[in-house]
This record gives sequence, C-alpha cells and structure tokens, in this order.
Amino acid sequence: MSLKIIHQERQEFSAERMAEVQALIAQYPEGKHKSALMRILHMAEEDFGGWLSVETMNYVAEILNIQAIEVYEVATFYTMFNLEPTGKYVFEVCRTGPCMLVGSDNIIAYLEEKLEVKMGGTTADGMFTLKTAECLGACGYGPMLQCGKQYHEHLTKDRIDEIIASYRSGVVPKEIAR
Ligand code: FES
Repeated sequence: MSLKIIHQERQEFSAERMAEVQALIAQYPEGKHKSALMRILHMAEEDFGGWLSVETMNYVAEILNIQAIEVYEVATFYTMFNLEPTGKYVFEVCRTGPCMLVGSDNIIAYLEEKLEVKMGGTTADGMFTLKTAECLGACGYGPMLQCGKQYHEHLTKDRIDEIIASYRSGVVPKEIAR
C-alpha cells in the first residue's frame, strides 16, 4: 500500500490516554521503544476517528522519538490500518488462497454489488467501507471477513444479507458457531 497524503487537523491524546501510552512504552527496554508503535497506532485510530492522517503519524513518531518514515512504513504495510476516513463499519474480506478456493471472489463481488461500492470505497451513507485483506487466520472457515474485532465466517450471499441488515440496525451480528 502506498502512503496516501490525507491531512487532518493535528489531534493529541488526552492526558489519561497519554499516560497509557507512556506506560506501554515503559514496558520496553531503552532503545526498543519502537516496539510499542503498532499498539499506539491502534490507540490513535481508536481516538482520532478510525484512521491515521499524516499529522497523526507524525505525532506518533514524535512520541516515540523516531523518524516519521518509520511510522509510515508500518502504517502502509499492514492492511488493518486505515489511511483515509472510513465508514462506521469496515469489512475486511480475506482474499488469500484458501478463502479464494472456497469462493471469496464471489463474496467480494456480491458485497460490491449489494453495497454499491467497489473494494477500497465507502458507501454513500457512510456506513460501510470495503477492503480486502490477506490471511486473517480463519482459513478453515472461509470465505470470511473481519469487521472490527468480529469475524464472520462461512459466508454466503444470504449470510451477507443478514450481516449487513444487522449492522444497519446497529447490532453486531452474532457469529455462527463453528
Ligand atoms: S486464507 Fe482466509 S483466513 Fe486464511
């Protein structure tokens, strides 16, 4: 993924959150503070609207006293980080081999049709963003997608209809038991 240059007014962690950040950093030996980077980026997404602007990444670099490029490298490598504003719910659909063999392509096409948006885009109502992801560790339960901390597995068109309807009503859909 390349770095998208999307700007946002600089935001800073609350005093309480900064204390949490500093406690996290303190868990690592001197000179190894960069190890806290990914967790801090997740915190920044949680606190600053669900995505990482250039200003936010620069801010995180300042906190860790590292070069901004070191933050960009991580944020652009991992697909779980959002580099532009997203919808309320982000669907990350696994497209790696095992899921592809059981129909992830069809699921991706159906999601695009159903939500009237292409992968990488956000629906006009701001509810859903579609993304693809590499293996999410549920290879035996594909096709699958992740939304926040929730996995949705054994996807079919009917199941997708149910999942979307549930999110639209503000309820995180229950996952089918494995
Ligand atoms: S290949 Fe899809 S979860 Fe592993």
